[in-house]
Amino acid sequence: MLVLGLETSCDETGVAVYHTTRGLLAHRLHSQVALHEAYGGVVPELASRDHLQRLVPLIEQTLAAAGITLGELAGIAYTEGPGLAGALLVGASVANALALARGLPVIGVHHLEGHLLSPLLARPAPAFPFVALLVSGGHTQLMEVRGVGAYRTLGETVDDAAGEAFDKTAKLLGLPYPGGPALAALAQTGQAGRFHLPRPMLNSGDLDFSFSGLKTAVLTLVRKEAPSAARRADIARAFQDAAVEVLCAKAMAAVERSGADRLVVAGGVGANQALRASLRELALRQGVEVFYPPLEFCTDNGAMIALAGALRLAHEGRRDYRYSVRPRWPLADLRPPGQSVDHAA
Ligand code: KG4
Ligand code: ZN
Repeated sequence: MLVLGLETSCDETGVAVYHTTRGLLAHRLHSQVALHEAYGGVVPELASRDHLQRLVPLIEQTLAAAGITLGELAGIAYTEGPGLAGALLVGASVANALALARGLPVIGVHHLEGHLLSPLLARPAPAFPFVALLVSGGHTQLMEVRGVGAYRTLGETVDDAAGEAFDKTAKLLGLPYPGGPALAALAQTGQAGRFHLPRPMLNSGDLDFSFSGLKTAVLTLVRKEAPSAARRADIARAFQDAAVEVLCAKAMAAVERSGADRLVVAGGVGANQALRASLRELALRQGVEVFYPPLEFCTDNGAMIALAGALRLAHEGRRDYRYSVRPRWPLADLRPPGQSVDHAA
């Protein structure tokens, strides 16, 4: 089954063609980083307008790269939520219009299910069941994954998401948007142990996270120290060390409690090399296998939407082309393929 996937939930326009047995055939991505940079964050209206301009040419390029025509597709998947309403509507509209024109089944995909299943794009791919650490700009969750759509939340953040904490802390240190990768790069040049920051909820006994206190601790430190460039690197290092320690400890505890021996890490923060190094060490000790999506699919992309859509389309594709988007959509509401409630009805 050949599926076209469209991602437009935030500030990346992603398009991919995925085949259920041949795997990923082609993908294209346009990042809006340069567009939003001057504003220090994503401007929703600009994001929607840019998706509108980029999406159709990207679809044409992706189909050409895969060497296929629209007529060969068996279905179309798009991100239905969560995300920015206007941005989501661009992908939903184009997907439904294309599907209507071709009489194809269409499916709205949960963006986080895309992230959660993205390690299936890697070789070797993890088998079910596994524990997933989902760490993106908007979400920080530990999920037990028994199969497609069989998700149980084990823990989540009570305030900021991990990526959000990286981004806000980067801003405090005067780094450009998007802050996460910039902070990680600066932290690499910093001296470990020069500053010590709190490990929020490390010993809370549950699997929840909190990151806003960590960000506030950095703010206090920046105000007190008026740090030089070298000291700012030390602060970045201290922040990253604290965030990584909490993420790793909770993830390993979640694996232990669930009885699984596989951990999957997905979402933008999963690209963080310090997090990967630390998880590698802990997992080796605990006899746990860790899986990541290919690096380019850690952050938002069309491939994960095409993949998640392909896994569901055979069971629940729609041909009524009445669509809506879900800017807020809890992941735990999902059901296995074919058992979803049709909210558009
Ligand atoms: O999954 P994603 O692309 O978008 C969302 O759905 O949120 O994640 C983006 C987040 C941003 O907060 C970004 O700063 C963070 O992932 N990020 C990183 C790194 N690369 C991206 N955070 C820490 N270290 C990185 N290397
Ligand atoms: Zn994402």
